[in-house]
Amino acid sequence: MNVMVLGSGGREHALLWKLHQSKQIGKLYAVPGNAGTAALAKNLPLSVEDFEAIGNAALENEIGLILVGPEVPLVQGFRDFVEAREELRHIGIVGPAKVGAMLEGSKDYAKAFMSRHNIPTAAYRSFGPEDLEAGYAFLETLTPPYVLKADGLAAGKGVLILDSLAEAREELKAMLLEAKFGAASARVVIEEFLSGIELSCFVLTDGNSYKILPTAKDYKRIGEGDTGLNTGGMGAVSPVPFADAGFMQKIEERIIIPTVEGLKQENIPYVGFIFIGLIKVGDDPYVIEYNVRMGDPETEVVIPRIASDFLELMQATANGTLHKTTLEVSPEAATTVVMVSGGYPGSYAKGHEILGLGNTSDSVVFHAGTQAGPDGSVHTSGGRVLAVTSYGQDFKEALKTSYKTIEGIQFQDANFRKDIGFDL
Ligand code: AMP
Ligand code: GLY
Repeated sequence: MNVMVLGSGGREHALLWKLHQSKQIGKLYAVPGNAGTAALAKNLPLSVEDFEAIGNAALENEIGLILVGPEVPLVQGFRDFVEAREELRHIGIVGPAKVGAMLEGSKDYAKAFMSRHNIPTAAYRSFGPEDLEAGYAFLETLTPPYVLKADGLAAGKGVLILDSLAEAREELKAMLLEAKFGAASARVVIEEFLSGIELSCFVLTDGNSYKILPTAKDYKRIGEGDTGLNTGGMGAVSPVPFADAGFMQKIEERIIIPTVEGLKQENIPYVGFIFIGLIKVGDDPYVIEYNVRMGDPETEVVIPRIASDFLELMQATANGTLHKTTLEVSPEAATTVVMVSGGYPGSYAKGHEILGLGNTSDSVVFHAGTQAGPDGSVHTSGGRVLAVTSYGQDFKEALKTSYKTIEGIQFQDANFRKDIGFDL
């Protein structure tokens, strides 16, 4: 079967890498892909938001299955578009329709869903521009730090955690009345601050049954010791050592089952990944957020640990036969360290040649922001450039291998965090 993956990051490279190992795989296509995906798939230079063009390319290339990497096409209704077209309807899609994607597309919607289904999460209220005074009054009832979240998609930047009430009031006003995050902050969720250690849990569902994929922990800040600006993610480890069987059982009973059952009860057909951002407070899990896709760079450690045939799992998800499959997970740990362009997440240069990609056989190097030159050379083309994944008995051993591999890769002003897993 020919399969298309939408997106162009390390996540999409990892999905294609795993699909490529399947016995029954046909041709692979990446939209738009990067220099790494080009080695496994044909890159099609289309925008992930150009549904018409993607639909035409899917027909032309006899695609049977499409995996949607990023959230934007899901929130914009890619599945709804495919289902509405007679000639595309036979194509399996891994990724929810617009209504299910609201779990990521609207924090207010996600919080209300959790409260309807008694899923543990921080106490909250949400406010629109007309409720500024009520928002100020709600802030008075909380203790610092204050957590303000833009309701809509804000490319991972829409959450503010503020120490003083004065700052929180100011930012609330900027979000609601001055469009600080554009239309995304026309509504703001204010919630209780939870203190604990974070982890991510990934669920694959066909809308009826589900499989729990390996856990992961990512490192979002640019600086060592989790300091400095937020990034898309600087590294990740899987499994998460503190997510033992007892804790996983709590996550399944209190969060995963009520989420999947809640979607069913509300007649929200959901086919795809659910990425649950969690925080462990004392011994209990709370949901920080839902995402309706896999994480990046978490995918680069979760997917390499899946031992089952990935095409079969994806087809079963799309066809509603997930209950007939088994999920096998490697007991080995995996880590990934992300090499970024100097200056990222601020401004950075592009177009630096990347050297040493031939000397990486101890690791799997997933490409993120890379572009191939006409002579076969590979150049930087984004903030996050490469995700260097390795296996080991435990995450420490795996990390050593990733760092060793990184020593052999060069591009101008390359940066990476030397302390992935420091808090575990
Ligand atoms: P989100 O975009 O919802 O994942 O939030 C970004 C980050 O803000 C999370 O990864 C957490 O580190 C932090 N965060 C979000 N909500 C809370 C909360 N209620 N309490 C403490 N930290 C939070
Ligand atoms: N690494 C966090 C995310 O993909 O949202």
